Amino acid sequence: MKRIAVFTSGGDAPGMNACIRAVVRGAIYHGLEVYGIRRGYSGMIAGDIFPMTSQSVSNIVQRGGTTLKSARSKEFMTPEGRKKAYENLMNAGIEGLVAIGGNGTFTGAEVFFNEYEIPTVGCPGTIDNDLYGTDYTIGFDTAVNTALEAIDKIRDTADSHDRVFFIEVMGRDSGYIAIQSGIGGGAEIVMVPETHTPLKKVVSTLKDGWTRSKSSSIVVVAEGDEEGHATDIAEKIKSQVADKLDIRVTTLGHIQRGGTPTAYDRILASRLGVGAVEGLIKGYKNVMAGIVNNEMVYTPFIDTIKKPKPIHDDLLRMVHILSL
Ligand code: F6P
Repeated sequence: MKRIAVFTSGGDAPGMNACIRAVVRGAIYHGLEVYGIRRGYSGMIAGDIFPMTSQSVSNIVQRGGTTLKSARSKEFMTPEGRKKAYENLMNAGIEGLVAIGGNGTFTGAEVFFNEYEIPTVGCPGTIDNDLYGTDYTIGFDTAVNTALEAIDKIRDTADSHDRVFFIEVMGRDSGYIAIQSGIGGGAEIVMVPETHTPLKKVVSTLKDGWTRSKSSSIVVVAEGDEEGHATDIAEKIKSQVADKLDIRVTTLGHIQRGGTPTAYDRILASRLGVGAVEGLIKGYKNVMAGIVNNEMVYTPFIDTIKKPKPIHDDLLRMVHILSL
C-alpha cells in the first residue's frame, strides 16, 4: 500500500481534527502518501480529493469541528453514487481509506467494502459513544463536559427560583451523554433510551423530593428517550405537579458538538488515528480501530454497528442512590 486517504463523515465531533492529524502524520511516518477527502462520502462522489502534508495538519490538534468538513450523503446510499466514489478513488490512486465517523459512516463503509474491496479502517468519531468495539468514541468526553457545564449553570438558577428543570442532551439512540452528565451534574432523574422510565415514576420522584424539602431538581433527558423530547415530557407531567412545582425546559442542542476537545479526546483521537494507519499497514480491512481496557483493538464494522453497547446498570442505579 502506497497511498491512503482520510475523511470525516456524519455528525462532527470534537477531536476529529486531532484524529486527522494523527492519520496524516502516522501515514507519513510510515512512508505512505496521504490524501484528504472533503465532506466525507459527498466529497468522494464529487472527486474532492487532495494531497496532504505534515503542514496541512499544523495547529489543528486543539480545534473543534473538522477541517476536512463533514456531510451525511444521501447519494452514497445509491449504487450509482458509490460507483462514482470508487472511480474517483481509483483515479486518485487511493489504495486504502481511514473513515472517521459514527454508525452511519461505518454502515456506508461496510457496503462500499463489500462492493469494491478497498481496505478501510474506521476511527470512532461521534459524541454519542454508541459504537460497540471501543470504550469511548472521539468527542464524547468533550460533549459530556459541555453538557455538565450547562447543567451546573442551570442548577444555579433552578436553585434560586426553586424550580424543576428538564434538560435535554444529545444522543439519538443512546443515553451515554445523559447518564454521565446527569451523574456528574447531580441530576435527580436521568431518562435514557436504553431503559424505560415511566412518567409516573418521574412524578413520584419529584414529589418525594418536594416533600423532603428539596428546593430544586434536575431531570436530564436523552433526546432519544421513548417518552419523547424534554418539552413533551415536561408538558405531559405539568398538570400532575403544577400546584407544587414550577417547571422549565432547556434543550442543549448543537453546543454539545462544538468546542475545544478535552485532553482525553485529543489523546484518544491521536491513538486511534495512528492505530488506524498501522491497522491498514498490517492488512486489516473493513474494521474499526477502538480502545478497550486501554488496548488497541480492531472490530468488524458490522459488529460496531449491530452489537449493542449497553449502559452499565450500576450507573443507572447510582442516579437513584445519589438523588436521595
Ligand atoms: O450523532 C451525533 C448527533 O449529534 C446525535 O446526537 C444527534 O441526534 C444528531 O447527531 C444530530 O444530527 P444533525 O446535526 O444532522 O441534526
